[in-house]
Formats: sequence, C-alpha cells, structure tokens
Amino acid sequence: MIELQNISVRYQGRNQEVLAVDDVSLSIGKGDIYGIVGASGAGKSSLLRTINLLERPSAGHVLVGGQNITALSGSALRNQRQRIGMIFQHFNLMHTSTVYENAAFALRVAGKTEDEIRARVPEVLELVGLTDKAEAFPSQLSGGQKQRVGIARAIANRPAILLCDEPTSALDLETSTSILELLGEINQRLGITIVLISHEMAVIKKICSRVAVMESGKVVEEGDVFDIFATPAHPFTQQLVDHTLNLELPPRLTKDLHGTLLKIIFLGDRAETPVLSEAAQRFGISVNILHGKIEYINNRALGLLVALLQGNVSEQHTGNLPATLQERMAQAVDYIRLNTAQVEVLHG
Ligand SMILES: Nc1ncnc2c1ncn2[C@@H]1O[C@H](COP(=O)(O)OP(=O)(O)OP(=O)(O)O)[C@@H](O)[C@H]1O
Ligand SMILES: [Mg+2]
Repeated sequence: MIELQNISVRYQGRNQEVLAVDDVSLSIGKGDIYGIVGASGAGKSSLLRTINLLERPSAGHVLVGGQNITALSGSALRNQRQRIGMIFQHFNLMHTSTVYENAAFALRVAGKTEDEIRARVPEVLELVGLTDKAEAFPSQLSGGQKQRVGIARAIANRPAILLCDEPTSALDLETSTSILELLGEINQRLGITIVLISHEMAVIKKICSRVAVMESGKVVEEGDVFDIFATPAHPFTQQLVDHTLNLELPPRLTKDLHGTLLKIIFLGDRAETPVLSEAAQRFGISVNILHGKIEYINNRALGLLVALLQGNVSEQHTGNLPATLQERMAQAVDYIRLNTAQVEVLHG
C-alpha cells in the first residue's frame, strides 16, 4: 500500500544542516495499523509527513498503491492528498468554526457540493460519537472530543490512508484508550490503512500490528508488534519494551540476591509452572517467582516471569545429582531455556 524507498529528509538550519530522516525504507500493508515509535527528535514526524508530501523527501521515493507520488505535482498531487487524512497531537481545529464546519472542511476543499456535505458530515459525526455536538465550538469540547472532531475531519473524504501524529499524547490515559479504540474501529469498519506515530510503546501495543523503531533518523528495528515485544533485538527497542512491560523489582528484593535471577518469556497462555517445578525437582534447586504476568498483544498471549533460582538440595536428591550447585544451576537454566521461548539471566 505504502512503500517508502530510501527516504531522507534534510533541513537547512541557519548554521548547520539537519538530517532528520536518514535513508529509511519501509513497506506498509493495506489495512494495517502501522506504528512508528521513537524518542523526541528521532525524525518520526518528518518521515510521516513525506507520506502525504507535506514534507518533500530530499532523497528517495514514496509509492502509494504502486504510484510514485513524489513525481506528482499540481492537481494530481492535490487529488492524491485527498486520499490521505491526517490527525495531530494538538488537534489543529479551526477555533472560530463549529464542529460541523470543522468536519466539513476537507469536503469543501475537495470541492464537494452543499448537498454532498449535508449528507456526509452527520455520518462522520455519528461515526466518532459527536452527533449532539455539531453546533458546539472547539473551546466547548474536552480534549478527547476535540480529537474526535479531528478524526471526523480526516475521514470525511473517505481517505484510503489515515496518518496520526501522536494522536493521544495530549490526552489522559482513559481518553487516550477511547481514541485508540475509535481508530481501531475505523480501521476495521472502513478498511483505512493507519500509520501512527508515538513515543510510547504502550500506545503501539494497544492497536498496531507492525512497528518501526526510529532512532536518530534511522529505523533500527521493524516487525510484527508481538515479535518485537517477545524478542526485541536492538538495545533501544529493548529499553522501550522493558519500560512498557515494567518488570522492575522492588529494591528490597534485588538487594543481596543469592542465586540466579531469570527473566523467562513464554508464548501462548499455557501454564509455565510445570517447567519450573520440573527444573526444581530434577536439579535440586528452589524456584521463587518474584514477578509474573501475561500480556495480550494482537490477541496473542506473551507470558513473562521473573524467577529466582537457589540451591536447595534435599536429602533424597544428593545421591544422583551432579557435584556442584553451580553445575546444577547451569543445567536448570539450560532446561528452562529449552522449554520456554526465551531466558535472560538478570543476575548470577
Ligand atoms: N522545519 C525544520 N527545520 C529544521 N529542522 C527541523 C525541522 N523540523 C524538524 N527538524 C529537526 O529534525 C529532527 C527530527 O524532527 P521530527 O519533528 O521529525 O522528530 P520527531 O521524532 O517527530 O520528534 P517529536 O517526538 O518531538 O515530535 C529534529 O532534530 C528537529 O529539530
Ligand atoms: Mg513529531
């Protein structure tokens, strides 16, 4: 649906040139909800804005539906832009116009007739749940309602693509969730391809199917959101994922740790305790679970456990166990590693 080929975006500052996007290539599938995540200044907005050519790439091509839109200009470019809606962090509404007029804006720009506008605006206001606010002004709305107006305006023209630049960053958690749910619904019901920027992996986890991780103008990692959460490869992605999964232990537990501390990941929602009790039995150790949860990402279960392995040789074992505790620990870790998706030794 959208092919970004070797995109670079350079800005000419007063003293120096900024390379905001550095040779990025991405492929975004039709009907996807595609996330772009990264820290402030990573180049996310610059990259997103090349998709509707609000920002012309300094190098590279943007293909939409197989057509090279970087080659378009004039009315061909305007027509293409109408197929792409956009929403913003701070909503960018017209403050002196009603909700109805804000939603009608893109239709007027596209040269729709009054009859067409009168038919379409109530439809989109209903879709975003603002039917009763048609005559209100933006100042009379909550943040979430303002973003709903932004969404109504962006989809009024029945675009094929919706670009979302930090659409929930100005909203509280609950409102943010309801806006993300609305975007998910729009994607499902209308089949609109969504590209969404966020600096929070938690937002990506809620609705995206794929994600690109950006750092200093480059995409450092790209893939299925579940896979990225299960096995983040790049250190920056690992940091983002760790932060979101929040498996931190209270200091009183990590102080003076004796034993081997493991982070264990398992896929699917099958119980993992049998593997751990089996390891305890076989290798004469004890297993204490310090933290554990199951995250559901795109309806798939990702299980996470933090467990402490310690020496615990009961009398009945001593006869047939290998000599040292160290050896048994290593064998236990290997055994757990074999029987789960991933094991990371955090300590010991
Ligand atoms: N118009 C511009 N002129 C000069 N430099 C710019 C311009 N727009 C962005 N930049 C620079 O390009 C880099 C990338 O900016 P960009 O806005 O794309 O990042 P971002 O990932 O969207 O950040 P944020 O999360 O803060 O929105 C930054 O260093 C920024 O200062
Ligand atoms: Mg930005």
